[in-house]
Amino acid sequence: MSKIKVLGILGSPRRGGNSEILLDLCLGSAQKNGAETEKFVLNSMKFVPCQECAEITKDGMCKIKDDMQKIYPALEQADAVVVASPVFFGSLSAQTKMMIDRFQCQWLGLYFYKTYKIVKRKSGVFLCVAGTDRKDFFDNSKAIIKNFFATAGASYKHELFCSLTDEKGAVNNHADCLKRAEEIGMLIAGGKT
Ligand SMILES: Cc1cc2nc3c(=O)[nH]c(=O)nc-3n(C[C@H](O)[C@H](O)[C@H](O)COP(=O)(O)O)c2cc1C
Repeated sequence: MSKIKVLGILGSPRRGGNSEILLDLCLGSAQKNGAETEKFVLNSMKFVPCQECAEITKDGMCKIKDDMQKIYPALEQADAVVVASPVFFGSLSAQTKMMIDRFQCQWLGLYFYKTYKIVKRKSGVFLCVAGTDRKDFFDNSKAIIKNFFATAGASYKHELFCSLTDEKGAVNNHADCLKRAEEIGMLIAGGKT
C-alpha cells in the first residue's frame, strides 16, 4: 500500500519559530505514523507575487517559471496539506498570502474556464500562531486559508490556533498546542479525518 503523502508549508520567515515548531511536530508525528512528508519553507523559495496575467491562465496552470512550480505538483499529489503561518497584522504572513495568490490560475481553471480538475482530494490543516489572543485575527486568517483549500481541493479538517506566543519558541510553553499538533499529525497519517 502506498504511503499517505503529507505536504507541509511553512509561512513564517522565522526558522525554528513557533509556526515551524508546530509544523515539525505535526509532520514528525505523521511520519511516525507511517506517512511520507515533504516540507516547503516559503521564505527560502524564490517566487514572485501573482502578476494577474489572465491571458495565459486558461488551462489552470500558472506559467511563471519560479519555485512555485515545485509546489503545484507536490500539492496535487498530496493526501494532506498542512499550512503553518503566524498572524502578521491581523492576517496571514505575506509569504503565505503570496503563495496563495499564485493559485489564482487554478481558481480560474476550476471555476471560470472549467478547464482544470482537482487531481486528488485531500485533507487541509491550518496551524496558526499569534502574539495576542485576538480571535478576530485567527478568524481573518482562517477565512483566507479556507478559500485556498477550496481551490487546492482540500477539505478544511483540522485547525490549531495558538495565541500568546510572541517570542521565538514561546509555543513550547503551551503544552496543549504541542500535543494537539502531534495529534493532528497522527490523524492525517492514519487517514482518520
Ligand atoms: C510583522 C509582524 C506582524 C505581527 N502582527 C501580529 C498581529 O497582528 N497580531 C498578533 O497577535 N501578533 C502579531 N505578530 C506576532 C506574531 O504573530 C508572533 O510573534 C508569532 O509567534 C510569530 O510566529 P513565528 O515564530 O512562527 O514567526 C506579528 C509579528 C510580526 C513580525
